[in-house]
Amino acid sequence: MALERTLSIIKPDAVAKNVIGEIYTRFEKAGLKVVASKMKHLSKQEAEGFYAVHRERPFFAALVEFMISGPVVIQTLQGENAVLKHRDLMGATNPKDAAPGTIRADFADSIDANAVHGSDSLENAAIEIAYFFPATDVYAR
Ligand code: PPS
Repeated sequence: MALERTLSIIKPDAVAKNVIGEIYTRFEKAGLKVVASKMKHLSKQEAEGFYAVHRERPFFAALVEFMISGPVVIQTLQGENAVLKHRDLMGATNPKDAAPGTIRADFADSIDANAVHGSDSLENAAIEIAYFFPATDVYAR
């Protein structure tokens, strides 16, 4: 088992639903530790930069507009197999396809407003964590 870190974002729809604590509880019960955390209202430039890899996709503008529609909560999670474990907790991108009991099945309304983001690989996790957190803001626990 590998100790990993992954980047997690509670998106504006879930923040508006007041389920930040419920989502953190799921992370903790799954053995993921919060090692960095902040609430932030992203600028358009920050959201475009974060999702730059999706720039050519048809939903890019809608995704950016959604992500700047309200504050988000951004965290680095640490644990055994954290990348995959976090993806499993989130459920499928489209909540209609998300398994019962996953965060998206329980809290997301649509593929446009799907409650949470999680890094899709260890390599991208390192890039995404560095995008939001200087190394000094990530705490060994
Ligand atoms: S994933 O989870 O990265 O494998 O999914 P992917 O299909 O590649 O989608 C990349 C991100 O775009 C979001 N997305 C959408 N937003 C708005 N409208 C539509 N139709 C749409 N389809 C996908 C999806 O939620 C992913 O965002 P993040 O923040 O990474 O979850």
